[in-house]
Amino acid sequence: MAKQFILDLIKAMTLEEKAAQLTQLSPNYFDEKTSVTLTGPYRNFDLTKEMIENAGSVLGCVDAQTYCKIQDAYLKKNRHHIPLLFMADIIHGMKTIFPIPLAIGGSFDLKLCEESAQIAAKEASVTGLHVTFSPMADLVRDPRWGRVMESPGEDPYLNSEMTRAMVRGYQGKDLKESGRLAACVKHFAAYGAGDGGREYNTVDLSRGMLKEYYLPAYRAAVEEDVALIMTSFNTIERVPSTGNPWLLREVLRKEWGFRGVTISDFNSLDEIINHSIAADSKEAAKKGIVSGLDIEMMSACYVTCLPELVRTGEIKEEWVDEAVLRILELKDRLGLFENPYKDADQSGAERIWLCEKHRKAARKLAGESAVLLKNNSVLPLSKANNLKIGIAGPFAESKQVLGGWAGQGENKDAISLADGIRAVLGNENVVTAMTQELQERLTGFLDVKDETKEAVKALKDCDVILAAVGEHPGDSGEAASKTYLRLSKNQEKLIHELKELSKPVIVIVFAGRPMEIEPILEDCDALIYGWFLGTEMGNALTDLLFGKVNPSGRLSISIPHTVGQIPVYYNYFQTGRPYQGMSPQERFASRYIDCENSPLYPFGYGLSYSNFIYSNLNVCTDSKKRGATASVLVKNDSDTDGTVVVQLYIRDITASVVRPVKELKGFQRIWLTAGEQKEISFEITEEMLKYYNNKEEFIFEAGEFEIMIGDNSEQLLKEKITIL
Ligand code: NOJ
Repeated sequence: MAKQFILDLIKAMTLEEKAAQLTQLSPNYFDEKTSVTLTGPYRNFDLTKEMIENAGSVLGCVDAQTYCKIQDAYLKKNRHHIPLLFMADIIHGMKTIFPIPLAIGGSFDLKLCEESAQIAAKEASVTGLHVTFSPMADLVRDPRWGRVMESPGEDPYLNSEMTRAMVRGYQGKDLKESGRLAACVKHFAAYGAGDGGREYNTVDLSRGMLKEYYLPAYRAAVEEDVALIMTSFNTIERVPSTGNPWLLREVLRKEWGFRGVTISDFNSLDEIINHSIAADSKEAAKKGIVSGLDIEMMSACYVTCLPELVRTGEIKEEWVDEAVLRILELKDRLGLFENPYKDADQSGAERIWLCEKHRKAARKLAGESAVLLKNNSVLPLSKANNLKIGIAGPFAESKQVLGGWAGQGENKDAISLADGIRAVLGNENVVTAMTQELQERLTGFLDVKDETKEAVKALKDCDVILAAVGEHPGDSGEAASKTYLRLSKNQEKLIHELKELSKPVIVIVFAGRPMEIEPILEDCDALIYGWFLGTEMGNALTDLLFGKVNPSGRLSISIPHTVGQIPVYYNYFQTGRPYQGMSPQERFASRYIDCENSPLYPFGYGLSYSNFIYSNLNVCTDSKKRGATASVLVKNDSDTDGTVVVQLYIRDITASVVRPVKELKGFQRIWLTAGEQKEISFEITEEMLKYYNNKEEFIFEAGEFEIMIGDNSEQLLKEKITIL
């Protein structure tokens, strides 16, 4: 039941005031002196003074003083004293920056992921912010898309669990609590499935595919009581999400029971005109409100057209009222009617930003997110014998390691790789070379200067060589789709030449996406996929290199052999002509003639300094209910304590529609001391065996299932069971 004071407010509002309440504008509309970086095309909408004075929310990240100033001035002019809502993109940290979400996904550490979101909320809320546009729950399979960095990865289950953890971390139990932000899950729906990995491109998926793969993570957020959901730029069944009544009313509200606020993406309501499903702003406004879109971000169809549409009877006023109600309820849920400044406190920022506790959590999560992909017994390094390390490449000394969407994080606060290592070995034992930094591709930059000869010379007396290579952080994130995923030529050349020194070469890749690393694999003795690990990157990698932390990160997305394989993912459908690694003469199978079907490194893959052995898979079915218990013995067969991520996959062997060859259904991060073994068990419930049929029913079908447990999506122990 809505609160009476909110209903009274809505009654007292004019149509113009209501339409403005549904509009979100950047801070410069409210305070001309404020400049923010906008994440979309800027247009001047010719808004009247009244429209701005009644707009409901603000987009963009500034500081406590500015927010308070804007709120203050606004409340003086707004005749109903309805406070403004402040929203911005706090994706993986505000000031203390955590690894990019794609890397966090690979930590499989839900608790720490939740803590990182909680810290981000705390650091952001002191600026006066109320809502973060996070988590991004889009399932991703195409590393050409720059925004894979913002997603927890290619798997619907991992994606859902990570999304839940983030919503819990931001929101806590009560949005009124200090240090909490309302979360906005995005981009609803299936924004990650754009054709060819090209930004803002068309999506066309079957309903089965949508329901089974792409929608579960948004739904998980709704189940965690996420406060808002953002529509995506793309089409769903040929209708842009922002004006899609099936998606926003049928699925989101009716089927899932979502009661929070829906918001467009930047200008995406206006863009349905470009999509050509609306002739003009008026039709766009109508389609938006009919679809159940509450807030229009950075375009002005609602504010300029809704009042007239109601007056001419083209739309029902109750649709506008519904949207206003939801927005006012969110403001109330955040406690803004009592305290419109919420946690805004400039001195709080100085107290908690980058504090020791936050840095410590960032270092831990960074250490759990990097993935060791190759190790010819050269890692971990030993400090003994006055070890001398040479580091070459654009990320040797670079602090450009926060990754895209880094809140108000600053490179200067980050620890570079060389500094992390210097802290352990001392300055005299670290030599760097060819350290020119990368620049963004969009500036016309192609490559770093070829200083390979000089680098080889400078590092010739070192005991171990690190190559710190990758892509510029600005080359991933929004509007950063790419077709070429190899390292730049001079970086590849550098690794190749360093090999000639006949010293162990360890490559660390810094990137916001899977890159094509096959061409450099042979030239390295060890390879760590370092993503962008955030503020504590240098310390966290140093912890891993010297074995202070034993690697436990896994791939949340497959790494392809070559861009031509994309999309390549582990939970594919079996075809009628499956290729089973038969003889090369097996021509008429679903395969490439010049490349394997499987990726270079599969989902869930990651090495450790320990050696984990899996045995004794045992699956017991339960005759009283549809389900089973699966257990496996995992042994740490090494002298090194470590964490293993035990993964459970299930395959429905025969069903009415084609089912994936395997699906992740559970995982556990387990700490095993050297030599220790443990029995790990998973409860398999009926829910885990269900799927969506073509009538959109979530059903169980009796029959055979294959239960698989192991270290990654390819190395698995398997047992078949029948459940009736
Ligand atoms: C556009 C992006 O797609 C979205 O993720 C972001 O939240 C908004 N801009 C606001 O910055």
